Amino acid sequence: MTRSTERPAVTTPPTTDLDDATALRHQLADQLAAAGHTRTPSVDHALRTVPRHAFAPGVPLPAAYANDIVPTRHGDNGTITSSVSAPWLQADMLESARIQPGHSVLEIGSGGYNAALLCELVGPTGQVTTLDIDPAVTDRATRFLSQTGYDQVRVVTADAEHLPAEMVPDGGFDAIMVTVDTWDLPWIDALAEGGRLVAPLRLHGYHWAIGFTKDQGALHSDEPLTVCGFVAMQGDGAWHTNRRTVPGTGVHLLREDGTPLPVDQLTLALTREPSVTRTGITVGGQEPFDALTLYLAGALPGFCRLQVDPDSDNEVLNPPPAHWPSAAIVRGASLARLATERIGDGDDRKGKYEFVVHGHGAQGHLAAQEMAEQVRHWHLNHRGALCPRIAAHPTASCAQAGTNHIPHVFAKKHTRITVDWPIVPGSAALLLDPGTSQVR
Ligand SMILES: C[S@@+](CC[C@H](N)C(=O)[O-])C[C@H]1O[C@@H](n2cnc3c(N)ncnc32)[C@H](O)[C@@H]1O
Repeated sequence: MTRSTERPAVTTPPTTDLDDATALRHQLADQLAAAGHTRTPSVDHALRTVPRHAFAPGVPLPAAYANDIVPTRHGDNGTITSSVSAPWLQADMLESARIQPGHSVLEIGSGGYNAALLCELVGPTGQVTTLDIDPAVTDRATRFLSQTGYDQVRVVTADAEHLPAEMVPDGGFDAIMVTVDTWDLPWIDALAEGGRLVAPLRLHGYHWAIGFTKDQGALHSDEPLTVCGFVAMQGDGAWHTNRRTVPGTGVHLLREDGTPLPVDQLTLALTREPSVTRTGITVGGQEPFDALTLYLAGALPGFCRLQVDPDSDNEVLNPPPAHWPSAAIVRGASLARLATERIGDGDDRKGKYEFVVHGHGAQGHLAAQEMAEQVRHWHLNHRGALCPRIAAHPTASCAQAGTNHIPHVFAKKHTRITVDWPIVPGSAALLLDPGTSQVR
């Protein structure tokens, strides 16, 4: 649908501003295509057509067309509760949604801009519904969509945890695009068989944008996942961090669900020097290892993430977790956590690091060996895989729904998520001499 000529201008800005906006929009679209975020002519066309700045009035044009989010609403404590999402991620997720002309599409989390992009993709014979829990957001979205000529979008105010049944088309939506951080996927029934659902799913605190196809009532991913971040889900599907503080240490442990986390007996462990178990596995300074932490989260019972107060004077956590919480496991009064140690400059001069595991407490070295073994297993068998395959089955259809640890199964409220790691033999040559535990 090419509608640019018939679309009324938002507030009749001066011609030079419109020219600037058009130039910046094409510049952004060029950048997204060059980086591989845009891969089809239809998504490229949508990004070149919809005036992103019209959905962020008052924001300077360069910021509206930067490859970054534009915050649009904040909560009482200053956190961002709504934004125009980052263009690179919108492009990735739109490509993953595989939307065709004539499709009926649901967007969860509104703002207007992405709904307008969806409108361009479904064309005049399709239908876009966008839903948000916040009436201020849906008011803005309705206004902006009307001002930009996309008033055919159906805008609904509701909590996505409880989709109004009357808005779901017979047979379900052809695609559902979730643009808010979600811990679960309660929308399988609203999706047509063969349809696509793209969502930023939270798995043990790690967020991955995942594209699924519905097959026989379950969702299956079939392409690489993208690490991402989105504003938090509100309402009945909100995810509340299970965060416990180890008394007197400045250390916090986080679990993804309500599983009790016994922390009181860990104080002693976290005030003594740890053992260090070397893994022999290395990583480059600029090389992400999100796949490893997702692997460990699924493989190890008692998995949690460990955070330290920035102003804590705890000296045994050395080095402390950098920007993100460390992967950790608890074993009784002992604990192990993943760390990295710089062992050289690397070929690219950006640093070469070895994964090491610190064991805290009397049995910490055993917990560390257990984790180190899984790091090596991941490296040797799965590291070369482009991505794991993720499936989501409705909990009601699973015989043994429960929270007992089954490797690589994440039990949610509505679904059971399984993560299947394809076997790709790694290079044993990359394995350093795996050392034994040593006390520093
Ligand atoms: C990142 S914004 C959406 C961005 C938007 N799709 C765009 O065009 O760029 C996420 C939105 O999700 C909404 N949201 C949060 N929890 C929700 C819920 N339970 N149901 C529906 N919407 C929700 C927020 O109010 C917020 O506006």
